[in-house]
Parts: sequence; C-alpha cells; structure tokens
Amino acid sequence: AEKIIIDTDPGQDDAVAMLLALASPEELEVLGITAVAGNAPLPLTEVNARKICELAGRRDVPVFAGCDRPMFRELHTAPEVHGSTGLDGPVLPEPTLPLQEKHAVDFIVETVMAHEPGSVTLVPVGPLTNVARALMREPALAARLKRIVLMGGAQSEGGNSTPCAEFNIYVDPHAADVVFRSGAPIVAFPLDVTHKVLTTHARKEAIRALGSRVAQATFEMLDFYNRYDEHKYGTDGGPLHDPCTVAWLLKPELFRGKLCNVEIETQSPLTIGQTVVDRWGTTGRPKNALWITEADADGFFALLTERLARL
Ligand code: BDR
Ligand code: CA
Repeated sequence: AEKIIIDTDPGQDDAVAMLLALASPEELEVLGITAVAGNAPLPLTEVNARKICELAGRRDVPVFAGCDRPMFRELHTAPEVHGSTGLDGPVLPEPTLPLQEKHAVDFIVETVMAHEPGSVTLVPVGPLTNVARALMREPALAARLKRIVLMGGAQSEGGNSTPCAEFNIYVDPHAADVVFRSGAPIVAFPLDVTHKVLTTHARKEAIRALGSRVAQATFEMLDFYNRYDEHKYGTDGGPLHDPCTVAWLLKPELFRGKLCNVEIETQSPLTIGQTVVDRWGTTGRPKNALWITEADADGFFALLTERLARL
C-alpha cells in the first residue's frame, strides 16, 4: 500500500477524503492525519479530524495539530460554507481518540525522513502552511517524498475566494509558493476539475441508501455542505473538492490533466493567491505540477459509494 499523510482542515469534503482513504487500506496506508487552520480555526479542525477517524472506526490513526495561522497573513476561515464547527451537518460525538503531542510539522518531517526515499506521499487538502513549514524545516524533504497530491488552485473556473484565487491557496499563498517551488512532484486538483465532480441529489441519496452509520453521517455532511455551493453555482449539487486527491491515488484513470509550470501570485492585492498555469509552455519554466482538469464524475461517485460501504 502507498504510505500517505493527509494534511487537512476538516471541513465536510476533507472528511469525505479521509473516509475514502481510511476505507481503502489495501491501496493506502494512512500514516497520520495532520490538521491545519483553514476552513475553521485549528482547535476545531483537529477535533473534527479525530471525530472522523472515530467515525471510521480507526482509533489507531494518529492525529496531529499543526500551524494555527498562515505564514504571513491573518487567518481567513469559511464558516459560511462549513458552518460554525467547520463540520456542521451530522451530530458526531466528542472524540475520545487523543490528540498526539507532537507538532504536525515535526511529524511530517520525521516520518518522511524515517521512511525509504520516494515512499511517502503527502495529501494536502487545506491551506499549505504545515507542508511549507515542513519543506522549509528540512531541505532534504522535497527530494525524499514520493509526491504531493493536493487540492488547490483554479484557472479555467476562476476563484472561489476572490475572482482569481481558490480558498486553499488564497488563505496561505506564501506557503503555496514554497510548495510549488519545492521540486517535489505535484499532482494538483484545482477547481477546474472539482467543479465537474458534483454531489447531485441522486449521488447523495445513493450514499444514504447504504444504510450504515458512516453513510448516514456522510449524507448529512454532504447535504449541509451542498446547500451553500448549490445556491452559489446554481447546480444540482456542489463540487466535492478534496476527495478527488484520494480517488486519483486509488484510480488515476478517472482523471486527466497536463504537466505544466504553475506559479503562485503572492504580491498583487488584486490577484494574490492566483495559480498562474503555463498550459502552453510560454515561459519555458520547469513543469512542476500535473494540473488535473477532467474527471469521470460517475466513476468517482461509484468508487466513493463502494468504499464507504466498507466502513
Ligand atoms: C477547498 O476549500 C475548502 O473550503 C474545501 O475544504 C477545499 O479544500 C475548496 O476551495
Ligand atoms: Ca479542505
């Protein structure tokens, strides 16, 4: 199984990404979950991460708290999307799974450096603060990773936090800049693709019909999460961003993209947090990211539903 660390700010779609990974032990070994501030402040995201491990029946997965604010900017959260807890929807019990004492950045550095070169994959689905801090702390980290499979950025769709910037990059553009310059192989799931993966009424109902506790909680998360984006985009169902990363690790044939140079705008007040994607090689700069733009959404939801049935 591929060894992964999920870096996350749960978040309903983060939670579904975690559940999909935890339901797939044959393909993915989750070494740990690292929480970061993003959708909600860190004290909420780390609790939410532990709630989801417990929901999945996986009290063996260590959960770490990381950075409680971006590298330079003030923290910007999204309670209008995710609710006041960051994970509104289902009522989940307070977790008994303890928070690890180690800082998430230390866990990432120590774990990757302790494993064989090229054997650990990072799956960041929140702002990139923890990952950037880890890359800065240990200069050998980038070359030691297998790859970074992240949700973030936007080109064809425009941004969801500003006209140019997607939330995860917007919250900590300086961290994103560190990650995209790191030299580690990157697979990026921007809004270009996630806006094609919609949690329609029928797809949500198929999950609820599984009838398990996990399925019911997932339905309630998606139902809550959808209501804001459905209204915003006027679609049947909102985009299910974060689980695309995990689905690609399980079934890459569900997605298509192009290897491009991607750089992050960190200066302009108008466009800060924009992912500048050189699709046609105009700059000659190194191709640092596989930029995913296409998805088989039916195949994705079939996979998700089948895996949730295992929990
Ligand atoms: C990203 O922002 C968060 O609200 C979601 O969890 C996802 O990671 C989408 O822009
Ligand atoms: Ca997220």
